[in-house]
Parts: sequence; structure tokens; C-alpha cells
Amino acid sequence: MATITRRVWFTPTAGALSNLVIKEEQLSPPAADEVRVKVHSIGLNFADVFSVLGLYEAAPKTNLVPGLEFAGVVETPGGGFKVGDRVLGTVRFGAYASHLNVNPLYLRHSPNGWSFEEAASFLIQSLTAIYAIRELAALKPGSTVLVQSAAGGVGLQALRILEAIPNVSVLGVVGSPNKLKFLNDTFPPAKNNDDPNAKRKNWRFISRAATGPEFEAQMSDYISSHPTLTGFDLILDSVAGSYFHPMYAAMNSAGRHVIFGAASLAPATLDLTPRLSALSPVNLFRAIKLGYKYAMRPRIDPMKLMGDNKAVMGFNLIWLYDKAELLSGLYGELERLNLKPPHVGHRFDFEEMPAALALFQSGTTVGKVVINVKHDN
Ligand SMILES: NC(=O)c1ccc[n+]([C@@H]2O[C@H](COP(=O)([O-])OP(=O)(O)OC[C@H]3O[C@@H](n4cnc5c(N)ncnc54)[C@H](OP(=O)(O)O)[C@@H]3O)[C@@H](O)[C@H]2O)c1
Repeated sequence: MATITRRVWFTPTAGALSNLVIKEEQLSPPAADEVRVKVHSIGLNFADVFSVLGLYEAAPKTNLVPGLEFAGVVETPGGGFKVGDRVLGTVRFGAYASHLNVNPLYLRHSPNGWSFEEAASFLIQSLTAIYAIRELAALKPGSTVLVQSAAGGVGLQALRILEAIPNVSVLGVVGSPNKLKFLNDTFPPAKNNDDPNAKRKNWRFISRAATGPEFEAQMSDYISSHPTLTGFDLILDSVAGSYFHPMYAAMNSAGRHVIFGAASLAPATLDLTPRLSALSPVNLFRAIKLGYKYAMRPRIDPMKLMGDNKAVMGFNLIWLYDKAELLSGLYGELERLNLKPPHVGHRFDFEEMPAALALFQSGTTVGKVVINVKHDN
């Protein structure tokens, strides 16, 4: 197979979305343990924004092609895939590209009937949700679960997985009331919680109060107004910040608080540059605010965990990338659940990548943000 020319989005130095440039480069023939994939859709993840801004520990700070997941068509055979197979896959950065050479260990056949957009939306968020729910929390039927950012990509996949576990009660929390209708339409809570055949019994969606102390009061009102509820057995926390302690307080004894994101610390518009002196006054203010929030981030005393009989756990899927067997086992579980295709909320062309990332960074999205790559042949 010949070397080809491909298009990539690339950042020479991390620090600002405006550092991203589109360029053409040569892609060598795939190595013996790789197959080539023509990429049709790319799924955006929060980590992409963090990596471009230079705030993501796992990402290189220079010469980065961001991107963690994609869907496309196999162009060279290998690892059980043949030319023309529709696949979805993950990479440890580098997915913002028109073509990829990838190890087939990280590829899967796309489920029948799914579009490229849906396939590119599935892996990272579903693996995140199932790792938290099954592997870390080992959630049992009948549990109560609080899901933060329930209308986001991970949140929606978590709800789909929780639906499949019998009698799980859910409180889905979102940052804005605009997202509630979508959730209530997509996951209508049971009308009669006493009906033994009803689905989604004791499911509720609420909009998060604006500050940590207000959220604490909101949680305590919520629990006291539901006589059968003592608190939550599992908290899926991707927001953290000043909301962390109120969530921890709302957890039942023997509960698990799984933290996998810190969206409340995410700068909604900030572009960082290498030197503080080069920042505009507005960005300097935002950088100081970010620094303050970071300095004030929640802390927990391990001795208190014993006294409270509660567990706090954290993870980042990126560190599991080398554990192909574990990921493959989790993927098998997802396949057995036979989940519906993910909700694609926002679509952009490959050339519109900066606009897509800016929208994603705003925190106003519902469902997945997807990039489509057009090819001449
Ligand atoms: N550890 C891991 O391996 C892993 C893997 C994938 C994702 N994650 C994390 O999981 C979270 C959800 O990821 P996702 O890919 O599914 O994204 P997403 O949910 O589509 O979007 C993130 C959500 O975060 C909330 N948010 C709160 N404050 C925000 C702010 N200042 N700026 C932007 N968003 C804000 C928004 O929802 P509400 O305002 O409605 O809450 C937004 O919809 C992110 O924090 C991400 O870093 C972690």
C-alpha cells in the first residue's frame, strides 16, 4: 500500500483553540500490526478541549493532533477486519484526521444500522459510564444513583446503562433548565412508582442550583421530600468543584462517589498562552479565576472516609488505554446491553473544527458533538 496525503487538525503548541491549524501531511503505509481506516466521523470529547488548552496531563504539550474516537471504513485488511468494513475505534490522541493507521485491538465493527456519526459517538462516553457503574461501583439492582451532567454524552450513556439494571432510581442533574425537556422526553420517568411493570421508577431530572451551598440545600430538600430516599448509593460526578462536598454529603453509608471529570473547573472561553504577561485583561481575569477555583478545589481526608463509611474513587480512561483486555471486556458488556445508538446533538464539517470545539467548551451542548469528514472518493 502506498503513502497517502491526509488532512489533520494540529496544534504546534498547546494553550489556545486558536493555535489549531488544518494541514496536509503524508501518512506512511500501515505497519504490520495496523490497519488503515478512512475516517468519516470524529466524536468530540471534553478531553480534546483540555488537551488543546494544555490543561490535560496525559496529552503532549507540543505537536499534538487531538482526538480520541472516530468511525470510518477499513482500507487495508488485518486483525479480523476486511476492506470495506464499517468500524468505530479509539486512539490515544490523533483522531482529528481524515485517515488513520490504527492497531485493530482498538477497533470494533460498527453495530448494524448505525450511522458513522452515531458510531463515532459511542466508545469513549459509553466506556466511561460502564467502567464507573460496573467496574468501580459494582452497582446492584435497587440502588439509587445521582448522575451529574445527565444530558451530556457520558450522562446519557450512563442513563441508558442504568435503565438496564433492575429497579435503579435516578436523579439526573443538569446545569440549565433548557436541558430538562429533552431528558424527560428521552427517559420519561414512571407515572406510577407502585406499578411493578413500570420502567424508570423513581427517576427525576432537576436543574443544578448555581452555587455549592445552594446545591447542598437543594439536595437536602430533595432527599427530605422523598420519604423512601435516604441518599444516594452511587454518585457519578463529572462536575466536582464546589458541588463535590454537597454530593458527598448526600451519599448513603457504604455509597460510592465516582469522580471522572471536573467540568465546573473548565474555562468556558479561556484561551491560555504560555506567558501570563501576554494575556489580554479579560483572559488574565479568567486565568486568575481559574487559578482560584483550582486552589479552592475540594479536598477529602482519608480518615473521614472510614468514619463516614463512604468511598471516593476516580479514574481517567486514558490510563486504561494499555489495558486492551479490560477495555475489550467492558466493550463486550456494552454489546450485550444492546444499547440504542447515542444521541448526536451537534454536527460540524471537518473544516469547522474550531467552531465545534468552542461550542463544546461553552457547556451548552446536549448529546454528542460530531465532526464529519468529506472525501472525494
Ligand atoms: N475520566 C474519564 O476517563 C472521562 C472520559 C470521558 C469524559 N470525562 C468527563 O466527563 C464529563 C462529561 O464529558 P462529555 O464528553 O460527556 O461531555 P458533555 O457531557 O457533553 O459536556 C460536558 C458537560 O459538563 C457540564 N459543564 C459544567 N460546567 C461546565 C463548564 N464550565 N464548561 C463546560 N461544560 C460544563 C455541562 O453540562 P451541565 O451544565 O448540564 O452539567 C456540559 O454539558 C467531562 O467532565 C469529561 O471531562 C471523563
